[in-house]
Amino acid sequence: MKIALFGATGATGIHFAQQALEQDHEIVAIIRSPQNIPESLKTNLNFQTVHASIFSPSDLAGHLKNVDAVVSCLGYRGSEAWPLRTMKFYYPSAKAIIQAMKEAKKRRFVAITMWCTEPEPDQSLWSKFLFRLFLGRYQDDMRAMEKYVDTEREHIDFTIVRPPFLNDLPPTDVDFTTCPGRMFVPGCLAYISRADVARYMLCCLRDTTTIGQTIALGM
Ligand SMILES: NC(=O)c1ccc[n+]([C@@H]2O[C@H](COP(=O)([O-])OP(=O)(O)OC[C@H]3O[C@@H](n4cnc5c(N)ncnc54)[C@H](OP(=O)(O)O)[C@@H]3O)[C@@H](O)[C@H]2O)c1
Repeated sequence: MKIALFGATGATGIHFAQQALEQDHEIVAIIRSPQNIPESLKTNLNFQTVHASIFSPSDLAGHLKNVDAVVSCLGYRGSEAWPLRTMKFYYPSAKAIIQAMKEAKKRRFVAITMWCTEPEPDQSLWSKFLFRLFLGRYQDDMRAMEKYVDTEREHIDFTIVRPPFLNDLPPTDVDFTTCPGRMFVPGCLAYISRADVARYMLCCLRDTTTIGQTIALGM
């Protein structure tokens, strides 16, 4: 499969690219910071990079014409939204990517947000409060992205993966626990490695039963 990858220079994106290449997929990484590409990827013949703005559908569409699927491991890296200003990253970039996919007539899209982009009745008051306090801007922007992508279900075969907190441990072969449509996975650890999130996103690309779903991920 030829995969257009956003966020290929980030921690999860690098794992995704490495695992995808090991499984003989090809990657077209749409990036802004070539200096952040690890040597191991640069030298792989099935890994190519292109520069384009993640907020410009017209910039992006041409790069999506020859791919089979689009994957986003994008993550907000700015600090200017702290502490009070709203974040405008996930929703506008997803909107531009989806518009570009529609223009390029591509359907398959796998992306990442996080647990609890909206409070759930089962969530403890304490965790609702902490999420809101520290991650409120992320919640609002990611939830706007999730809702927007859902409105495009007629044109886009999406899977959105909601993981808990991320760490940098190596990938495992432990089975995932998933809760489609839920904000978190009750009873699971509140963290998972970026490498395992990448492993799950790669599984989603092959698993058509995840299409049209926003899935809380746990282990
Ligand atoms: N940290 C957690 O505990 C946690 C928990 C759940 C979910 N998440 C979410 O999981 C996702 C992946 O996290 P991560 O730690 O792997 O992210 P990360 O290492 O910060 O990577 C972010 C990626 O997004 C790219 N990016 C950011 N702004 C961009 C822009 N304006 N144009 C083009 N590319 C841009 C970065 O590219 P550059 O190299 O050019 O900067 C980088 O490749 C994020 O969305 C994060 O919010 C995180």
